[in-house]
Amino acid sequence: MTRALITGITGQDGSYLAEYLLSKGYEVHGVIRRASTFNTGRIDHIYTDPHSPGARFFLHYGDLSDAGQLTDLIYNVKPDEIYHLGAQSHVRVSFDTPEFTGDITGIGTTRLLEAIRRSGIRTRYYQASSSELFGASPPPQSETTPFRPRSPYAAAKLYAYWMTVNYREGYNLFACNGILFNHESPRRGETFVTRKVTRALANILTGKQKRLYLGNIDAKRDWGFAPEYVEMMWLMLRQDEPDDYAVGTGESHSVREMVDTAFAYAGIGLEWKGEGAEEKAVVSSLARHPSTCLKPGDTVIEIDPRYFRPTEVNHLRADISKAKERLRWEPRVTFDELTKTMVDYDLRMAGIEAPCEGIEACRSKGFLYTDHTYSLYERIREGE
Ligand code: NAP
Ligand code: GDD
Repeated sequence: MTRALITGITGQDGSYLAEYLLSKGYEVHGVIRRASTFNTGRIDHIYTDPHSPGARFFLHYGDLSDAGQLTDLIYNVKPDEIYHLGAQSHVRVSFDTPEFTGDITGIGTTRLLEAIRRSGIRTRYYQASSSELFGASPPPQSETTPFRPRSPYAAAKLYAYWMTVNYREGYNLFACNGILFNHESPRRGETFVTRKVTRALANILTGKQKRLYLGNIDAKRDWGFAPEYVEMMWLMLRQDEPDDYAVGTGESHSVREMVDTAFAYAGIGLEWKGEGAEEKAVVSSLARHPSTCLKPGDTVIEIDPRYFRPTEVNHLRADISKAKERLRWEPRVTFDELTKTMVDYDLRMAGIEAPCEGIEACRSKGFLYTDHTYSLYERIREGE
């Protein structure tokens, strides 16, 4: 049985990857951090008692700041594949915590690579690199585009990228960098912009929230569907030779377009008024949901400069020619379907009937190993 170790298993990608690998018959080990509150909401539904016969899912306490524990873990588990997804992954937060981000996102990677080297095990290694590396380089961005990082997070990921290449070249480690563009899902962290928008939309419809405050709505991103991207991580480790791949959809949209798409799907037409930090969106029409909390003319979105970044990445759009040619990969879920799926789940979570066009589209595209469960919240919603 193939054995995988995942750092960041409690995160968006880690949780989907764990489900995906379990569906392929893997034994999956995950590193989790001790926290004073539950942080396993995304993986509770796949947890099994490690004592039960045939258990294939195991969790271990550890932290990317703790080299000794990482080395012990790798030596004891002896994974065939390691997926390093753990990181302080929020770009805006990295400006507030640059040193911590450098330590966990950057040096944390070296601790793990060193743990592999010192334990002497043979393994395949996936590094969660990021399109943030491209920063100020104009789109489309590919594996050969110069890296020009624009945040402490991106600088830390740049260091981790090169350490991965160095361990591949210096120690013959089968190590791949997946340079992944933004990918989202119903399990996306609540402070990343897409999820912030879809959650706020549901809250506005139920009257729990009056307004959504955003930062730079003209930034453009290449947004894909997270479950597809974890399949790519696995695929990279299946190749004969280790290599680095850019993974995205090849399409980009602004934050403003994402907001318009999400609100329109829930039946709310928006009109944007004003400019810069004074810009706001007011309800221009209400169709599907006859919400008692909203009426035409209501302001639902405002700009809060607090969410601006000292240095912004204006435009990311992937050139995925290499992944298409070598990995025979084509993205399946469109921006429209992704947005609808996230809205569907957040509406359902808020107890509102959802159109379910997004959920249906994903199902029809074969993501059958997951139903995007986010157990903790779903249980709260169901009043268990
Ligand atoms: P995420 O939801 O923020 O998950 C991050 C994971 O890292 C969580 O499990 C978190 O644990 C863990 N972690 C944080 N600090 C840690 C520490 N000190 N020690 C051990 N674990 C720690 O991120 P994601 O969206 O799944 O992304 C996965 C990886 O891909 C990250 O490295 C991210 O930077 C990278 N990436 C993401 C995207 C994207 O668009 N999603 C694109 C390119 C690259 P807790 O749950 O305890 O906080
Ligand atoms: N988070 C957030 N909150 N972003 C906002 C907001 C807001 O209120 N308003 C506008 N934005 C803009 C940001 O300035 C940025 O240009 C864009 O929306 C996307 O922001 P995030 O969703 O926070 O993602 P990110 O692009 O900064 O970083 C994500 O993608 C990277 C890959 O390109 C993260 O997942 C990183 O870990 C990942 O490496």
